[in-house]
Order: sequence, then C-alpha cells, then structure tokens
Amino acid sequence: MRTRLEAPAVEPLSIERTSVALSGATRAYPARSRSTDPTEALAKVTLSVAHGEVLAVVGPSGCGKSTLLELVCGLQEPDGGEASVNGDRSAAARLSQCAYMAQRDLLLPWRDAIANAALALECQGVGRREARRRAAPLFARFGLDGFEDALPGELSGGMRQRVAFLRTLLAGRPVLCLDEPFAALDSITRAAMQVWLADALAEEPRTVLFVTHDVEEALFLGDRVAVLSGRPGRVVAELAVDLPRPRPRRETVTDARFVELKEHALEALAA
Ligand SMILES: Nc1ncnc2c1ncn2[C@@H]1O[C@H](COP(=O)(O)OP(=O)(O)OP(=O)(O)O)[C@@H](O)[C@H]1O
Ligand SMILES: [Mg+2]
Repeated sequence: MRTRLEAPAVEPLSIERTSVALSGATRAYPARSRSTDPTEALAKVTLSVAHGEVLAVVGPSGCGKSTLLELVCGLQEPDGGEASVNGDRSAAARLSQCAYMAQRDLLLPWRDAIANAALALECQGVGRREARRRAAPLFARFGLDGFEDALPGELSGGMRQRVAFLRTLLAGRPVLCLDEPFAALDSITRAAMQVWLADALAEEPRTVLFVTHDVEEALFLGDRVAVLSGRPGRVVAELAVDLPRPRPRRETVTDARFVELKEHALEALAA
C-alpha cells in the first residue's frame, strides 16, 4: 500500500503555489582579520525555480553553492538583492517552506534509522511514537524495509543518505534544498542514488534546488541547470534539460542531446 507523506499539522502549504527566486543576490562574509579581505561568496545571482521544478546548480568548489542554498532556506540573508520563497521575503517564511539536506548525512548515531527519520516530525511537535508510526510505511518505499532499527553505523553510505532524504521529505516542506547529497558516495552507489532520487521525486514531486559539482549528475536530475562561475559565484549559463522523463540512466547519459548539453555546461564552467 502506498502511503502519502503527511504534511505537518502546523501549516498545510500548497506545492502548486511555491516558487523560489533570487534576484541580484550578493553575499560577502566579513574578513577574518584586519589583514584579510571580506570573502565575496556570491555576486548578483538571479535565478528562479518554478513550483515542482528541479533546478540543479553546478559550480566549482568554493563558488558559493552552499551559501546560495542557505540564502534560499532563510539560514542567511543576502547583503544585497532579494531572496524569496513563494513570494515571501522574510527569513522565517523561507525557513518554514524549505527542507535542507546537507552534504553529510548528519544522522544521530545513537538513534536508530526510523528515529532519525522521525526526527523531522518530532521537531514539529509530533510525539515520538506517532512520528515513528508516520515514518514507518516510507521505509519500504525507500528500499529500507528491515533496517528500521539499525543504527547509522550499521547502514551503508547509500542507505544513510536515503534515511537522511526520508527525514528531509518528512519535514513536509514544499521546497527541498539538497546540498551535494551524494558527494561522499562511490561512483556506483552514486549512480544508483541518482536513479533512486529521480524515482522518488516522480512519486513525491517537490520544488528542488539540487547543488552539485558534477555536471552529469546535474543534467540527469535537473529540469534546468544553472552553471555558476568561480568565486564570487555568478550565473554564467542556464540550460534547459529538454530530455523526457523518466530518464533511463544508461540511455540518457549516452544520448546525443545529453552529451551536447554536457559540453555546453563544461564550456560555461571553463569560461
Ligand atoms: N560561515 C562562513 N564564514 C566565512 N566564510 C564563509 C562561510 N561560509 C562560507 N564561507 C566562504 O564563502 C565562500 C563560498 O563558500 P560555500 O561554502 O558557499 O561554497 P561552495 O560552492 O558550497 O563550496 P564547496 O563546493 O566546497 O562545498 C568560500 O570561500 C568560503 O570560505
Ligand atoms: Mg558547499
């Protein structure tokens, strides 16, 4: 039996209404000492994500990708320009509509898998037992049945990422901000997780910002790809990934259009 994710009791938000926008957003971190300059992380970044769309953001290390996600999520404010989610510019509104998944899985080692997933609901005031009850049916759907009571140390890297993703989904937010979620995985597990994520999003559509430094991953998962320059990050190209879904992985990555888009993205990265 399929179980829909239950939205948190606090605020039923419509996925249809949601969109993300950065408009001329800049962000610089203060100098660490008198002898150093401030670090300009992002320079006038303008981009938008339509509701239900997957925007992949690709860029070199240190170009401000995590900063960009934190601006969207309301964890930081831009120094100039604007960030909004669903038209709302306040940090509190952005925070309440976004679920953030960090590059490292950040599972609590003393909690079993289901208690880690249920944490998102507990943080919203749902009782521990009820939170576990709601999380339980999702384990089968995410290929984790039988591992509900495993501790993070007893799970593979890919399984830990799935528990972390399940927790991100259970937060019930319409916007997912995923920060290089597969960066720590080996290439075989990573490819499998990309397919898994594409399938999961087909079942549970969300507005997604997916940050990666891997062009192929960006093109495979994204409806559009924004390419950032080196620091300070600026959008140097936006590519519409005009490939049908579902995207069988092997056929997709060898498709002539995919290869052409990959060349465009690599050119933009090298410019
Ligand atoms: N909290 C912070 N305080 C000071 N400087 C920071 C802070 N966070 C990031 N920076 C700096 O801002 C720049 C952009 O960092 P950010 O983490 O956004 O880049 P990134 O593209 O996510 O990098 P990576 O691909 O390595 O994850 C870097 O030079 C970094 O040193
Ligand atoms: Mg980062």
